[in-house]
Amino acid sequence: MIENKDNMIENDIFLRACRYEETDRTPVWLMRQAGRYLPEYQATRAKAGSFLGLAKNPSYAAEVTLQPLDRYDLDAAILFSDILTIPDAMGLGLSFVNGEGPQFSNPLNSEQAVLNLQVADMGQLDYVFNAVKEIRTALMRNGKQRVPLIGFSGSPWTLACYMIEGSGSKDFLNTKKMLYNRPDLMNRILDINVESVAQYLELQIDAGAQAAMIFDTWGGMLSSGDYQKFSLDPMAKIIKRIKSNKKYESVPVIIFTKGGGGWLPTMANSGADVIGLDWTIELKLARETLDQTGKKIAIQGNVDPLLLLANPKEIERRVTESILNLADAKVSGSHPLNGHVFNLGHGINQLTPPEHVHSLIAAVKNASTKLRGK
Ligand code: CP3
Repeated sequence: MIENKDNMIENDIFLRACRYEETDRTPVWLMRQAGRYLPEYQATRAKAGSFLGLAKNPSYAAEVTLQPLDRYDLDAAILFSDILTIPDAMGLGLSFVNGEGPQFSNPLNSEQAVLNLQVADMGQLDYVFNAVKEIRTALMRNGKQRVPLIGFSGSPWTLACYMIEGSGSKDFLNTKKMLYNRPDLMNRILDINVESVAQYLELQIDAGAQAAMIFDTWGGMLSSGDYQKFSLDPMAKIIKRIKSNKKYESVPVIIFTKGGGGWLPTMANSGADVIGLDWTIELKLARETLDQTGKKIAIQGNVDPLLLLANPKEIERRVTESILNLADAKVSGSHPLNGHVFNLGHGINQLTPPEHVHSLIAAVKNASTKLRGK
């Protein structure tokens, strides 16, 4: 296992905010920070031949993980990979058709397919764990690690959506049909996904990941009640298992349910250290709602990724406004800006002008430093 001591990290402000410790400014990273909006990403992807060729080659994956860090003052790196590696390792046959998103050649489109499903073979995901190791090495500078590395997985529910549908979808109609008509089959898939995601995150941590994020992109399309049963509970099981092991208990776990802002009080019981927010809930309301649960849970988010298509002045104005909004929150025993990791409310859009990202980062740093009075 790679040494995970924080004192070997040059800039660990992200980890400190995840743990709700005092920081002198707000840390920032961006979901999908390595991606198509960067010309250097496009160049590496062209060398690799395809997105999967890139993700499955640990040296290329390390190269693109570092690209946004070389360009911007970001406070964390995130493993370059995809959430759909798990169903691929279950034998569902992942491919990406240009411009059309992910496709599975063997989706779960029959009862027999669901009954045949098995926990993902972690041996087939070695390329991911090797990428984590290569990234940790690439992050070293003068004997110290530049910033912490985040590992990630999809949530059991979000993975199930793609596994059942066989691709992305507007309404995930087949997934909803199974949920309502055959909850037994849905629960079988979710149980298998819980075990797979837990093993996957544990092995990423063993390889050197210093935080773990669970992307629940489609939890927000569930009815209240169903969200808790089919999306949140499976995530909570994974967190419980990770946290029950001494080896992993201090690794911050972030859960992000897109559209989940209305469920914060129950999400607070999941065991997550950090809750990711999209732009449909203001930071102050999220902070106060979580504070009222009596638990110290950090938040991450939450500006609309398309704000980055606006002009730099407007980006600065809105970013500053969102930090001012949080600074106004009534919280017990801590500066209201502590326990916040600035991020977008979803992945960065591929049409983002790369220079606009500088404006966002500068605004986060300026506003959050000033508001702490330093
Ligand atoms: O944040 C990062 O920089 C790490 C990399 C990362 C990718 N995908 C790379 C990627 C992460 C964290 C993901 C997560 C992911 N993948 C999610 C959850 C978060 C979210 O965005 O909702 C989901 C739902 C997927 C599934 C997926 N992967 C889709 C639907 C697509 C196609 C649509 C799209 O945005 O292109 C992908 C492909 C993908 N994953 C790309 C990248 C950079 C683009 C592929 C390319 O280079 O052509």
